[in-house]
Amino acid sequence: MTGTTIELRGVTKTFPGSATPAVAPLDLTMGDGEITVLIGPSGCGKTTTLRMINRLTNPTAGVITIDGTDVRERSLTELRRGIGYVIQQIGLFPHRTVAQNIATVPKLVGWDRARIKARVAELAELVGIEPAMLGRYPAELSGGQQQRVGVARALAADPPVLLMDEPFGAVDPIVRARLQRELLALQARVHKTIVLVTHDIDEAVLLGDKVAVLNVGGILEQFAAPDDLLAHPANEFVADFVGHERSIKRLSLSRVEDLDLGTGPVVDRSASVDEAHAVLARTGSTWLGLTADQQFLGWVPAAELAVAGAGLDGLDALEVRPPAAQVHRDATLREALELILTSSSSTAVVVNDDGTYGGTVTLESIRGGLAR
Ligand SMILES: Nc1ncnc2c1ncn2[C@@H]1O[C@H](COP(=O)(O)OP(=O)(O)OP(=O)(O)O)[C@@H](O)[C@H]1O
Ligand SMILES: [Mg+2]
Repeated sequence: MTGTTIELRGVTKTFPGSATPAVAPLDLTMGDGEITVLIGPSGCGKTTTLRMINRLTNPTAGVITIDGTDVRERSLTELRRGIGYVIQQIGLFPHRTVAQNIATVPKLVGWDRARIKARVAELAELVGIEPAMLGRYPAELSGGQQQRVGVARALAADPPVLLMDEPFGAVDPIVRARLQRELLALQARVHKTIVLVTHDIDEAVLLGDKVAVLNVGGILEQFAAPDDLLAHPANEFVADFVGHERSIKRLSLSRVEDLDLGTGPVVDRSASVDEAHAVLARTGSTWLGLTADQQFLGWVPAAELAVAGAGLDGLDALEVRPPAAQVHRDATLREALELILTSSSSTAVVVNDDGTYGGTVTLESIRGGLAR
């Protein structure tokens, strides 16, 4: 099943007895099959916004539609069947086993026992819960395992929409990183429309197709793709929020193939010595790269080419040094930078999917990529 678009139009929430709104008039579109992240300081209305989508809270004003239909036009049962909800602090039922927790919604909507059992087994496998854990109680699981059960429970009836309120808030950083990767892998298979709340900008940038930065009072400061947010924060609040290491964070988001790779100081080994000199002169490089059949062979110091001089018949006679730094074209800029910094080479050779030579990456080209 594919996802579903959620639209908020002028959605406002003022709690009874409160002078100021918890959520200001908010306009937001959460894309079909995408992960939309809501981030902002404590009390800025993130949970309230999620709870208005599945009508656990009613807006004071404004309209929320899912696939064009006002959520108020659906029966509560029908609406919530289509929306999985992972609540803040996991919220498993302590006196029910893992299997019973996962089966909550299927049982509610009257599936038969065999179907429920099959679905529980399927979900346990999907989120990485061992079958042996199904009979345990939540207190007998680690934080990360409880988290997975929470996700499995939310996915049980295969809802097109998933609301996740700080789903990884309760686990340590290592488990958190693993759960984040698992969520992305899972999403690549199930394509839900996910709205995920977090406090953590790194998590937002990693998981979000789009990120909404909210300020106190539910004011939307910026709604953008992660790279946009880091490259062009709309105002000081957002800049403060994304932090001072914006460029470092962006390195993890851009890939080598997004750069202008150029051909580098590289020629085919069948090229003439004159051509080789011309390439060196043009690029100002102190090393010449050689390819054969579009494969990168290695480097030759420009000085050796000069020494061999006029006596040299062809480039074949030169001794080629294997490349110290090679990156695949889908490597992140962060990986490419790491490689350049830790190898003896200031130039990394880019390798295409089919193993052919794809150009070069240098510190300069990485800097250029971030300047865009
Ligand atoms: N049931 C309620 N009655 C009155 N005020 C409420 C209620 N629920 C939330 N609020 C207030 O609305 C504001 C937004 O709360 P909300 O829980 O949406 O924030 P949040 O962004 O999820 O915060 P956190 O990051 O701490 O979870 C807060 O000021 C909160 O005190
Ligand atoms: Mg909250």
